[in-house]
Amino acid sequence: MEKTIDNIKKEIKNFNPKDYYDLEKLRIKFLGKKKGMITLLFKELKKFTLHEKKIFGKIINELKKEIQEKIEIFSLKHKCFKNKEEKLNFDPSSPGKFIEIGSMHPISIIKNRIIEIFIKIGFSYVDGPEIEDDWHNFTALNIPTDHPSREMQDTFFLYKNPDILLRTHTSSVQIRYMKKHHPPFRILSIGKVYRNETVSSHSNFMFHQAEGFYIDKKVSFSDLKQTIFYLINSIFGKQVKIRFRPSYFPFTEPSAEVDIYSSSNGWLEVMGCGMIDPNVLKNVDIDSEIHSGFAFGIGIERLALMIYNIKDIRIYFNNDIRFLEQFKSEF
Ligand code: PHE
Repeated sequence: MEKTIDNIKKEIKNFNPKDYYDLEKLRIKFLGKKKGMITLLFKELKKFTLHEKKIFGKIINELKKEIQEKIEIFSLKHKCFKNKEEKLNFDPSSPGKFIEIGSMHPISIIKNRIIEIFIKIGFSYVDGPEIEDDWHNFTALNIPTDHPSREMQDTFFLYKNPDILLRTHTSSVQIRYMKKHHPPFRILSIGKVYRNETVSSHSNFMFHQAEGFYIDKKVSFSDLKQTIFYLINSIFGKQVKIRFRPSYFPFTEPSAEVDIYSSSNGWLEVMGCGMIDPNVLKNVDIDSEIHSGFAFGIGIERLALMIYNIKDIRIYFNNDIRFLEQFKSEF
């Protein structure tokens, strides 16, 4: 063992590779996985007593470090060319390759901001599937088959009977979560929803929604209102004009729609909300005599429109770099 160690030390001293290939040969000679001199020493170490192992182990480790350092320094000092031609063609004055830094999509920026805002008041984030069944998307949410309220959301069916569809709203996540957990809980979920609304000139077949719901004992409409005020004022970073309009959703009672005022867009509807209907709670085995809760669904595209003063909703998904680049400074 001592002899071999002395040998290696000498060889390390004489370490002077001519080029990259020579360097690689030397690396294999010392550190090669099967027959490298240092690797073999480590293997031999197994035969020694614990005390000897400690002493020799330390020496071998130091040798290994020394040779690794030498290899690294050599490769840093000498740029290694594969052949003569490459060496001749190398122009040290040529500019480096510029690596473009991308930017976050405005929808992702708003999504992350909403998550941050709700985490602060004790909400947890969950995800749900975009491909849903009829029960989670409609029936459990108090929208029976053939009920006219299904017409409110023109649905893309993947196949019928059993009905499998692209979720028309994130409210299906309420059902999925409530079915598996016992209240109290505060949940936020954000994702894509799909509706066949191509008839309207400014619409897309897909948009993003943020769904929030809170269930506990004695949750009231004023809790809902305060939560919405908190969200909107936090996201705009200032006091914003908000109004609640009475509305109808089959899964909330009472229901409201929330509009935000801006000088460029006037009043714009951005979300639906309300107190979760007792029928919905029954469908997920929650006793509405004990628990109550609120829910809301926000359209992210609409909200971002107001935050960034965007005029045309189609621009989000045109993939126009000039539009997207404007959000570089945001993260
Ligand atoms: N799911 C409703 C929609 O997409 C919005 C909403 C969510 C309304 C939660 C009330 C409560 O139109």
